[in-house]
Amino acid sequence: MTKRAIRIAIVGVGNCASSLLQGIEFYRANQKSSTFEALGLMHLDIAGYKPWDIEVGAAFDIDRRKVGKSLKEAVFAKPNCTRVIFPNLNDSVVTVSMGEVLDGVSDHMKDFPEDRAFVVTDQKPCNVEKVLRDSGVDILLNYLPVGSDRATRFYAGACLNTGVSLVNCMPSFIASDPEWAKRFEAKGIPIVGDDVKSQLGATIVHRTLTKLFEDRGVRLDRTYQINTGGNTDFLNMLNRSRLRSKRISKTEAIQSQLEIPLDAENIHIGPSDYVPWQNDNKVCFLRMEGTGFAGVPLNLELRLSVEDSPNSGGVTIDAIRCCQIARERKIGGPLASISAYAMKHPPVQYPDTVAKAMVDEFIAGRRER
Ligand SMILES: NC(=O)c1ccc[n+]([C@@H]2O[C@H](COP(=O)([O-])OP(=O)(O)OC[C@H]3O[C@@H](n4cnc5c(N)ncnc54)[C@H](O)[C@@H]3O)[C@@H](O)[C@H]2O)c1
Repeated sequence: MTKRAIRIAIVGVGNCASSLLQGIEFYRANQKSSTFEALGLMHLDIAGYKPWDIEVGAAFDIDRRKVGKSLKEAVFAKPNCTRVIFPNLNDSVVTVSMGEVLDGVSDHMKDFPEDRAFVVTDQKPCNVEKVLRDSGVDILLNYLPVGSDRATRFYAGACLNTGVSLVNCMPSFIASDPEWAKRFEAKGIPIVGDDVKSQLGATIVHRTLTKLFEDRGVRLDRTYQINTGGNTDFLNMLNRSRLRSKRISKTEAIQSQLEIPLDAENIHIGPSDYVPWQNDNKVCFLRMEGTGFAGVPLNLELRLSVEDSPNSGGVTIDAIRCCQIARERKIGGPLASISAYAMKHPPVQYPDTVAKAMVDEFIAGRRER
């Protein structure tokens, strides 16, 4: 039986949304090529769903260069700056609706050139719940800027009122907050979160190396992870007051791999600076100092350079498809396996190899969530 497409709504048509939608079209266009081997994907098929079985039914933003525009136009509009993977998107019937601004836009954005920052439109907000209902979407993807706690709770509430699932790609805690988790469970709505863990980004590399130290009997004594980038995500995070949950999310992702967590002063992890000319290129500088056999010290230095937004695309494609099969199986509340695999701050942390096995069991129907 052919399955119907998974219909999603997007909140925040920024760089991540742009890469996700271009990526889906990239795979749709290349699926019949003889050299196609699921290049760059973690799963080509999830319970019958391919990446190109995802379609957008609604989109919300607040920027005057995106609101009221077709989705095809909005994903390439400034200040988006990610690498163009697939320029020829199909004409979309979806027009970007005006969302609720709330705490989505930091004041310091006004001090930067318009091409680099968010510019709020003067259009009136739409009725978000009505748009969700009318568009018949299954899942809402939250791509709001870091620090948008009130806005995230607003869209999560809209999900609860309309029966739409949430895949929370940013670090305002919903799936990993017991109160919110209970509300989704009580309504029988599956949710995945929080804060997407990129395919091969700073977090997964740092976690894997931390686990390696632990497994090889090397005591990790101190570590830092310093990140720079030039997209609006990094510009937004220059406002340190918005960073609290991002720091918690990124730090716990590493501490959870240690039997005895490091003292706070021995671990420093965070988005560290905004370098405009880097655009969507993110560079991570990592240092780990440890003690090995017979108390002899060692240290490791690593520099990782990635295009930030496509790095989250394939992970999100898996989160969406797992969420959809949970909907079909009538499972409500946080999905432990895909959240642990795909998110930095899941309800429960597992080592990444364990989380991957859990996801495969879940997909095969041998694990409830
Ligand atoms: N690899 C990654 O890029 C990655 C990994 C983990 C988490 N994240 C998180 O995902 C989120 C999205 O990242 P991005 O790079 O696409 O950010 P972005 O800055 O490119 O996009 C954010 C979008 O949200 C819109 N927006 C702001 N306030 C809004 C509101 N109230 N309602 C609707 N739209 C609003 C902005 O206009 C913009 O289009 C960020 O929180 C980021 O930290 C990204």
